[in-house]
Amino acid sequence: MKIKATILLFSTAMLLAASFSVPASGGAALEPSGANINDTASLQRGAKWFVNYCLGCHSLDYQRYNRLAKDLQLSEEEVMQNLVLSDAKFGDTMSIAMSEEQGEAWFGKAPPDLSLVGRSRGGDWLYAYLRGFYQDKSGNWNNTALANAAMPHVLWQLQGIQTPVYRQETNEQGYEHEVIAHFELTTPGIQSEQEYDETARDLTAFLLYVGEPAALQRKGIGVWVILFLVLFTFIAYLLKVEYWRDVH
Ligand code: HEC
Repeated sequence: MKIKATILLFSTAMLLAASFSVPASGGAALEPSGANINDTASLQRGAKWFVNYCLGCHSLDYQRYNRLAKDLQLSEEEVMQNLVLSDAKFGDTMSIAMSEEQGEAWFGKAPPDLSLVGRSRGGDWLYAYLRGFYQDKSGNWNNTALANAAMPHVLWQLQGIQTPVYRQETNEQGYEHEVIAHFELTTPGIQSEQEYDETARDLTAFLLYVGEPAALQRKGIGVWVILFLVLFTFIAYLLKVEYWRDVH
């Protein structure tokens, strides 16, 4: 009996461990993004922001427009009119013309393909990154999630410009140095703070979806699989009771 209980406990623990997905990058605690890939309206807004503000530099080489249409419940016309800004066809991938060499020459670092960034970085990191751009003392863009990021703050007109307010801190060796205490919105943007958070959340949801389009179906099917397993366990239990009645 004891062995049985141990096995049960062990397999439950394994199942639990497997059910949590851990993004590759760790680091400091991040604010939860609140992005929801099952919110179709949010994904549609995210897609629109993405093609207007990001697709100029970042490709999504594993995402096709027609798949996008199906998953985001858009018609071919809607996609072709609102989301295809190049001469790409409905069945094409969301690729771009910029080569890696050009990217490197222009930005110092080639803008990476973002097909899998939702998986490698996770939603909370993406949300922090999109909200983390600030202008430092010398007027350069920097980012709290990715120090010295080579990407300019392409959404600054929406968010506005935030600049850090510093405070002095003494480290273990007794040296004083400046750390960012908080940010101040020195130039307001078109959007309010809440609206910009929403934009960042929509973009995050969109990139999470692109990282695993099948997640939309997978999670839907998963519920039925679990229900089936529960039902089947019950049937198996009844069967066991029936068999053991004769043995006892
Ligand atoms: C002007 C070109 C340009 C545009 C437009 C642009 N980016 Fe970037 N992006 C870059 C470059 C360059 C990097 C590489 C930064 C680095 O590693 O220092 C980058 C990096 C990133 C990363 C980090 C990838 C990683 O894992 O390190 C993310 C996420 C990202 N961009 C998202 C976006 C989103 C979302 C948009 C649209 C709102 C956008 N980018 C628009 C140039 C651009």
